[in-house]
Amino acid sequence: MKILIHDSAEAATSAAARDILSLVRARPACRLGLATGGTMEPVYAELRRAAAEVSFRAVTTFNLDEYVGLSPEHPQSYHRYMAEQLFDHIDIDRANTHVPRGDAASPNTEARDYDARITDGGGLDLQLLGLGANGHIGFNEPFSSLGSRTRVKTLARKTRDDNARLFAEGEVVPTYAITMGVGTIMEARQILLVATGAHKAEAVAAMIEGPVSAACPASVLQFHPRVTVRLDGGAASALKGRDYLDFVHPNAEEVDLG
Ligand code: F6R
Repeated sequence: MKILIHDSAEAATSAAARDILSLVRARPACRLGLATGGTMEPVYAELRRAAAEVSFRAVTTFNLDEYVGLSPEHPQSYHRYMAEQLFDHIDIDRANTHVPRGDAASPNTEARDYDARITDGGGLDLQLLGLGANGHIGFNEPFSSLGSRTRVKTLARKTRDDNARLFAEGEVVPTYAITMGVGTIMEARQILLVATGAHKAEAVAAMIEGPVSAACPASVLQFHPRVTVRLDGGAASALKGRDYLDFVHPNAEEVDLG
C-alpha cells in the first residue's frame, strides 16, 4: 500500500483527480471503477474542470453500487449522483457508463449480470474507492465475505444513519443495495482510495494497520499489489506508524527510485 498523507482534504482529493486524469491521458480507452459519496464530490469537481483538456470519449465506467428500489431518476440514486457530478459535464459516451439498476425486477440477477459485465469486458484498470466510517468499501459492510462478488447487501444501521442526511425529511433510506463484492473490487488492476476527515480515522487505522479481517472489509486491501491511499491529516490521525509514513512520503510526495 502506498499511503500518502496530504496537508488538507482538498490536496488529497485534487491529487486523486490528477491520478485519474493521468490514467485517462495515458490510456484513453481505460476502464474505471467509480464511487459516490461526499468524499468524491471534490474529486469529480476537479474532473469537470479538466473536461476541456481531457477527453473521456473512449472511457468505460462501472460504479460500485446503487440502492435497491431507487429508479435512475430518483434524486438520491447513484445514477443521478453520477449524472450531476460527472457524466453530464464530460464527453463520455453514456452507453459506456454503468451503474447497477436499483429498480431491476430481480436485483439478484442484476447483480450477477453486472459482475459478469465487469469481468467479461476485461476487468477494471483502476477502482476509485471511498471508505465508510465502519470500514466498508462499496456497500460491503463489516463481516462481508472477503471473496464476495457483486450481490445484494443489507445496509448497516451506521451506513443508513450516515446517509440519511442526503434523503428528504421523512424519506426512508433504503435497506438494501447492489454492491460490487470485495472479491470483485480486489480484481481491479489498481486501486485508489481516498478518505478525509477525523471521523474516518479509526477505519483508516483498521484498514492499514489492523489485522486483515471481515470486521473491516477495507483491510483486505493490504493484500492488493497496487493500492494508493490518499488521506488528509484528520483521516490519518489514528495511524500508529504516522511518523514513518511522513518520512517515506513527506508532504505526500512520491520518490521515484527507478
Ligand atoms: C459509495 C460507496 C461508499 C462510500 C463511503 C464513504 O459509492 O461506495 O463506500 O465511498 O460510504 O462515503 P462518504 O464519502 O460520503 O463518506
